[in-house]
Amino acid sequence: MRAIEITEPGGPEVLAWHEVPEPRVERGDVLIDVAASAVNRADVLQRNGFYDPPPGTPPYPGLEVSGVVAEVGADVEQFKVGDEVCALLAGGGYAERVAVPWQQVLPVPDGVPLKVAAGLPEAACTVWSNVFMVGRLRRGETLLVHGGASGVGTFAVQLAKALGSHVVATVGTAEKAEQVRRLGADEVVNYREEDFAEKVKADVILDIMGARYLAGNVRALLTGGRLVIIGMQGGRKAELDIGALLAKRAAVHGTTLRARPVEEKGVIVRSVVDNVWPLVAAGAVRPVVYAEVPMSEAAEAHRMLDSGQHVGKILLVR
Ligand SMILES: NC(=O)c1ccc[n+]([C@@H]2O[C@H](COP(=O)([O-])OP(=O)(O)OC[C@H]3O[C@@H](n4cnc5c(N)ncnc54)[C@H](OP(=O)(O)O)[C@@H]3O)[C@@H](O)[C@H]2O)c1
Repeated sequence: MRAIEITEPGGPEVLAWHEVPEPRVERGDVLIDVAASAVNRADVLQRNGFYDPPPGTPPYPGLEVSGVVAEVGADVEQFKVGDEVCALLAGGGYAERVAVPWQQVLPVPDGVPLKVAAGLPEAACTVWSNVFMVGRLRRGETLLVHGGASGVGTFAVQLAKALGSHVVATVGTAEKAEQVRRLGADEVVNYREEDFAEKVKADVILDIMGARYLAGNVRALLTGGRLVIIGMQGGRKAELDIGALLAKRAAVHGTTLRARPVEEKGVIVRSVVDNVWPLVAAGAVRPVVYAEVPMSEAAEAHRMLDSGQHVGKILLVR
């Protein structure tokens, strides 16, 4: 089969569409004939040599795919050959085929085209697990989403809105502000023009900036607030005012999805299918697709992501 190899750490030009060995289908695996994958910020980190795949994972980038089940390993009863599915991966999605533990496989939500479904698993599992399972966002509470126009952000805004929260998002341009408002955000802060910590008070914050926003995030938390950090785009080390945290009886969480054991991912995936997929099927949460690029031209898709113009997901289609 063919897959995108990272020939050496570097810019988009190091991504090459090469002939590679077929994946091995182990006990408990589902082999997916890939229809599409999607680009995540983590793929760029991996391309640059800063985010190696966990042991046992294919070396090709790609944290999510959609496609058709081509084979199932021993002990798999949940899926059968011919099923249309999407999947959360630890890597290997930029390929014609990928083998994945059945626990990480989801049905395609009703009404979503097969290729478009490739852009759902990573955002849905990230947002559901962090905002709702860890952050315990409740109806009527306020969620602050940093990077509201990102793949993760566009999903978070819509899901929190669909579940009855007041949603505030940060974005970097007026055009993105308008698009994020159309997705349902009640308030949008342009982080280049205003300090969000001066304007927003939130029960839950989904943060992708890490160090640079830590002090502002703690200031923006309400009493009993929960800050959930999932990215370090603004650095990894910062000073934490523990006094402010204590006074607010607040919590700071940090998580990653990729390196978790299969069983933990399985719990998140099943919870997404039960709680989030019905909202997607009903049209309350829509996949936001910025562009579709042929998988063999993944370098072009990475240039697009690097330029930062996108809103939502860039798909890699076959
Ligand atoms: N821990 C986990 O399990 C996990 C899982 C998935 C994703 N993530 C993280 O979540 C983040 C989003 O991922 P993605 O794939 O959706 O990326 P993406 O689409 O490339 O989005 C990156 C976003 O960062 C925003 N941004 C840049 N500087 C900012 C600032 N100063 N303040 C607020 N926002 C700023 C950009 O907003 P503008 O374009 O408006 O400037 C853009 O929307 C990444 O950091 C990724 O590593 C973590």
